[in-house]
Amino acid sequence: MFMDLPSGRILVTGALGQIGTELVEALRQKHGPEAVIATDLRKAEGCQILDVMNTDEIKKVMVEQHITEIYHLAALLSATGEKNPHLCWDINVTGLENMIAAAKEHGARLFSPSSIAVFGPDCPKVAPQITPLNPTTIYGKTKVVGEQLAVSSGIDMRGIRYPGLISYKAPAGGGTTDYAVEIFHNALENGHYDCFVREDTKLPMMYMDDAIRATIELMDIPFERLSDSRGGYNIAGCSFTAGELVRSIQRHLPDFTCTFNPDIRQQYADSWPEEIDDGIAMNEWRWSPRFNLDRIVDEMITNLESRKNRS
Ligand SMILES: NC(=O)c1ccc[n+]([C@@H]2O[C@H](COP(=O)([O-])OP(=O)(O)OC[C@H]3O[C@@H](n4cnc5c(N)ncnc54)[C@H](O)[C@@H]3O)[C@@H](O)[C@H]2O)c1
Repeated sequence: MFMDLPSGRILVTGALGQIGTELVEALRQKHGPEAVIATDLRKAEGCQILDVMNTDEIKKVMVEQHITEIYHLAALLSATGEKNPHLCWDINVTGLENMIAAAKEHGARLFSPSSIAVFGPDCPKVAPQITPLNPTTIYGKTKVVGEQLAVSSGIDMRGIRYPGLISYKAPAGGGTTDYAVEIFHNALENGHYDCFVREDTKLPMMYMDDAIRATIELMDIPFERLSDSRGGYNIAGCSFTAGELVRSIQRHLPDFTCTFNPDIRQQYADSWPEEIDDGIAMNEWRWSPRFNLDRIVDEMITNLESRKNRS
């Protein structure tokens, strides 16, 4: 019951996506199932429909559900966004503006993810927190705007520049780092994967458990402790090449093979840094990752295998 929740309810948009699937679970564990309103374009068990372009519906949910905190995950990711640049701008920028306006009107706090896609080719290979942001992709540009809005909005709004996220519970949602998720499913099902980036492509990655923990830890920090980097904190998990990922998987599946046939997503990957300097997040809110490459691979293979055995 709402009466049992002194501080109001939490709204999650884009809740059926790769991050939302696990964030909703974690928030419900922390605050209780009734406290978290999961929404997406599609209806599913435990999730209601909310289009972030529909300001009337947003307002209705804010009022009826007494929302005091929003995790705004609805977005188009890099690979999908580059195919539909206008739609990407609409959903990622106008959708975010709608959520900011709702948060402002109802005095709610807002978490909105950024991405390593904010960096462009002029960024050093190890990306600093503060550096010129000149992304080549429309997706990256929408994320830069999002970070700027976080600071100019006048509300308590925070974000993280997530690296490529690796998880087994929900499929990856049309991003450039999807190969680091797809590879596990293909390795277990077919013993082979045709990778869409080169073997030597090195990108910052993170296991979903670390990303969810980072999100909740950041939202738990008193606002006064955070600097203007709160629009999008650099956080590092681990960086590895596609070839190193293959070799780590082969520790479990020695017969696994991988071919490399780069497509357009190689260009996006090439415009991003290889590593992330997360010193500011470490200092301001004590961010620290727990999963390295081999531990991610061990967790992915074990969990996907046990899920397969259960079905
Ligand atoms: N997954 C990653 O590796 C990664 C990395 C960096 C940043 N991010 C950011 O994190 C956020 C969530 O990413 P994700 O991986 O969960 O994405 P995803 O594509 O898996 O999920 C996004 C969800 O948003 C929903 N959605 C799309 N348009 C909508 C609309 N108009 N109204 C309501 N819902 C809508 C989709 O149905 C989908 O379920 C995004 O802002 C993304 O840019 C993700």
